[in-house]
Amino acid sequence: MKRILLLSLIFGIAFLGACSQNDNKMNDMDQSSMEHEMDDDMMEEHMDHDDEVSLNDSTGKNELKIPKELEQDEKSKEIVYTVKAQKGETEIFDGIQTDTIGYNGAFLGPMLRFDKGDTVKIKTINELDEETTFHWHGLEVAGAADGGPHSALQPGEEKVIEFKVDQEAATLWFHPHPDGQTSEQVYNGLAGLIYIEDENSKSLGLPNEYGQNDIPLIFQDRTFDDEKQLNYDAAMNDDGTIGDTLLINGTLNPKLTVKKEKGRLRLLNGSNARNYTFKLNSGDSFTQVATDGGFLNEPVTLEEITLTPSERAEIVVDFSSLDTLDDLALIDEEGSILLPFDVSEQGGKEEEIPEEMNQFTITEEEKNLPVTKEVELFGMMDKVTINGKKFDPERIDFTQEQGVTEVWEIYNKPDEMGGMIHPFHIHGTQFKILSRNGKEPSKNEQGWKDTISVEPDETVKVAVQFQHKGVYMFHCHILEHEDNGMMGQIKVE
Ligand code: C2O
Ligand code: CU
Ligand code: CU
Repeated sequence: MKRILLLSLIFGIAFLGACSQNDNKMNDMDQSSMEHEMDDDMMEEHMDHDDEVSLNDSTGKNELKIPKELEQDEKSKEIVYTVKAQKGETEIFDGIQTDTIGYNGAFLGPMLRFDKGDTVKIKTINELDEETTFHWHGLEVAGAADGGPHSALQPGEEKVIEFKVDQEAATLWFHPHPDGQTSEQVYNGLAGLIYIEDENSKSLGLPNEYGQNDIPLIFQDRTFDDEKQLNYDAAMNDDGTIGDTLLINGTLNPKLTVKKEKGRLRLLNGSNARNYTFKLNSGDSFTQVATDGGFLNEPVTLEEITLTPSERAEIVVDFSSLDTLDDLALIDEEGSILLPFDVSEQGGKEEEIPEEMNQFTITEEEKNLPVTKEVELFGMMDKVTINGKKFDPERIDFTQEQGVTEVWEIYNKPDEMGGMIHPFHIHGTQFKILSRNGKEPSKNEQGWKDTISVEPDETVKVAVQFQHKGVYMFHCHILEHEDNGMMGQIKVE
């Protein structure tokens, strides 16, 4: 809501400015009423960028589906998985088959659990009728394994990639990244989760029974047509495709049954464009324990959290200590019911969230580094650019040395309409937020990130280091903006 107000304010000012330039054209009209009408109209249209359509309330009719954990191809010394993009049909609505695509199944994908230190081989297979890629969002791997648009697999093609998992415990995800086709493929169902575990994550005592008290939640809003199909072309909006129907882990009208204990919710905004501000309808607070790329140093108590597309957060809700458990639900900023909770009488573990969870630091040296990369995000619809340019697969925009930290300054330049939030993502790295408009980021952003929301006219400085070499994308994670060219490339040498 704050964002909308801010946007309206910025827009209002910009609009008044624009109006005064047109003064002479409006001589005969009642200017002030004119201003008001247009003001409201255009403001509404503008706010629409954010959330054009409200989400329907979940009726809670269906128990939330939990993605299966993917098993290794065979138990041997080598860790080998197969991930296959395929077509299928899914019964999202009772008795109706919806055409969907998925990984190793008809819709969405399994969860891949890696241990830090593992050397993993993944056999990727494309069984779609179109090209695709396999991108590991948030994973620090060489450019050749990252699955950007240069690594397309044609229909029927297979490719084995290999990497060593060398980053701390986190919730990451994977999705396709074919040039210009990412949004449609994600929309139709290609997305899966990655859990990275390490010694720390196993010893913290946080809820970790997968599907019981460690619950992944992939939020995706969709529009279904009269036949209950996902008709991407009909729903498509160049400024980001949104819908009125929320699926969580592909479940329509989900509810989650939990015990009276702490529940760890791993939130992933897997939507093409919608931003979510999550809260409990009881007004109770919850605790954030992790950002995109790892644990926070200390738990942070929050009453709401906003995630822009592709951002993640792990939160812990203490279902044993809330006063009102009847009709408890996760809601969004408009009060739409996203996920009703059914809290059973059964108790569970009573572990405390540790006060110290990680050792994330930003050094004085990092704080004092000069800005060496500037990124200007601009535009809307299909007129989106980074530093005035659209993506060109033949052009390398930046170079950076492997293992060397550089400060990137990302600025979201407003337009005469005020502008909109762009979630900015860099492949192949987890970075640190140094400042937002010169100020220290909030406590719950003092941790590893691979995507940050950048508000209109905001400047965010981040410290970026790549552990591996290769060509990586950086882009707006509103998928239609990405497909419309709001993307650049960095070569790490
Ligand atoms: Cu989620 Cu280019 O990535
Ligand atoms: Cu990515
Ligand atoms: Cu954008």
